[in-house]
Amino acid sequence: MALRLYLCALSGLASFFLVRWTTSRTARKSTTSPPGPPGLPFLGVVSLLWERKPWLRFTEWKEVHGPVVQLKIFGKTIVILNTHEAAFDLLCRRSRTYNGRPRSILISEMMTGGLAFPLVDSGPFWKRHRRAAQTVLHPRAIKQYQGNQERHSVQLVQALLQNADAWSEHVKDSLYSLFCSVGYGDTNKGRASEHIRNFIGRIVYAAIPGSSMTDFLPSLAHLPSWLLPSKRRRLAQFRADDEAFVGLISDAPIGSGDSMATNLLEDRGTNDMGPREAAWLIAVLCAIGGEVTSSVLPVFLLAMALYPDIQLRAQAEIDGVVGKDRFPTFQDSNKLPYIQAIVCEVLRWRPIGPIGFPRCCLQDDYYQGHIISAGSIVVPNIWAMNRDAGIYPDSDEFRPERFLDFKHDVLGAQGQGHVSYGFGDRICSGMHIANDALFINIAAILHACDISQIGSTPLTKDVFDDFGIVTRPGTFPCRVTARV
Ligand code: HEM
Repeated sequence: MALRLYLCALSGLASFFLVRWTTSRTARKSTTSPPGPPGLPFLGVVSLLWERKPWLRFTEWKEVHGPVVQLKIFGKTIVILNTHEAAFDLLCRRSRTYNGRPRSILISEMMTGGLAFPLVDSGPFWKRHRRAAQTVLHPRAIKQYQGNQERHSVQLVQALLQNADAWSEHVKDSLYSLFCSVGYGDTNKGRASEHIRNFIGRIVYAAIPGSSMTDFLPSLAHLPSWLLPSKRRRLAQFRADDEAFVGLISDAPIGSGDSMATNLLEDRGTNDMGPREAAWLIAVLCAIGGEVTSSVLPVFLLAMALYPDIQLRAQAEIDGVVGKDRFPTFQDSNKLPYIQAIVCEVLRWRPIGPIGFPRCCLQDDYYQGHIISAGSIVVPNIWAMNRDAGIYPDSDEFRPERFLDFKHDVLGAQGQGHVSYGFGDRICSGMHIANDALFINIAAILHACDISQIGSTPLTKDVFDDFGIVTRPGTFPCRVTARV
């Protein structure tokens, strides 16, 4: 008996030390950073700043270094997440740690005064805006904008058929007009469109890595405005935008209940937003909505010009359900699974944000034996995830069929089948209205138009303008004609 007791105690002690030894080893191991390319002293992997398609480089590094890759540029740590599992574990499961956004003096401070919630760190301001955005953009709320979406889709088709050469401009005009109409009401959409388009154009340009000296020398931003003409200009522009956005929302017709602005203002008791915050929230939603959807729709036109068989199959589906005498509506959507699949495939095939919208790690974290330090910029490689050959065979091919029998969702994709809308608590606030806008425009165009290549030089898949964080088709030649 005594011997048994002694052996038990001994084995207990042994397991205790074993556990301590292994945990201390893990703790010691976890002070090492994730593997990655070495880079130059001080400069780090500075060449990345000039890469036009950094997602391709990240995907190469995935093969060499694995799912989580770390590198430095000018001493700043960048962590790339190359797989669904890593993105899900960190950005969804540990979202509190990864809900930050990297500080951008130029865009989130100088140009938008900390009032654009997609650009700010998580905190009370972000939570208030995120919640308010959800109330005007959740799946039930967006049903009230569907009539407006249908009208805009018909107008877009008419414009395309009148002057197909200017398809790119028509797509931009129509989607900005749609989002400004949904944002501020139909009577205000013209004036709003002009301001909003101008505003986001400046932001998109400033977001191109390397477009401003403050990217490299943040201390420049602290120089007084009289020494720095560009800072003076930016601040003056910010004041002008601020005034314009407050003016736009105060003109929204209260009581009509058909726009995001009126819904937000009428709900002021619960969303706790002052007029200036509400003005910026609506401006931000209209700006992102118009810019992003009008960048995605050309991907659809490109795919149709490149894959005529898919176009024919989609048109046959629409003809069977809708017929020739009327345009498609949202009432038809459940009967148009192939069109829904085209929407998913357009977003998967060529995600316009192939490296998402970077996050910031808010406190030291440990993952798979490595430390991810507070302050690291965390970048999901959406491009690589959407091209995971195990989930999407022939991933470079445009094949909507893959979404028809897609039985299981993808880790972290929240029912979308792809991760182009991002992850976790900061997943795209506008994904449902974006799906609606893409669906109705794609259905209307296919119902009324044929899309084909022009001339004898075959169109390639490589017609994209790449800006380091965004990729979208330029104005490639394509013919849009009326279906007979
Ligand atoms: C058309 C396709 C769209 C794509 C592919 C897209 C993609 C994304 C991505 C990747 C993010 C970052 C998510 C993350 O950090 O994990 C994001 C955030 C966001 N998107 Fe979209 N988006 C689209 C349309 C829209 C539309 C139509 C709106 C508004 C009407 C919108 C509003 C926003 C907002 C407000 C955020 C910031 C969320 C936050 O920081 O909490 N997006 N989107």
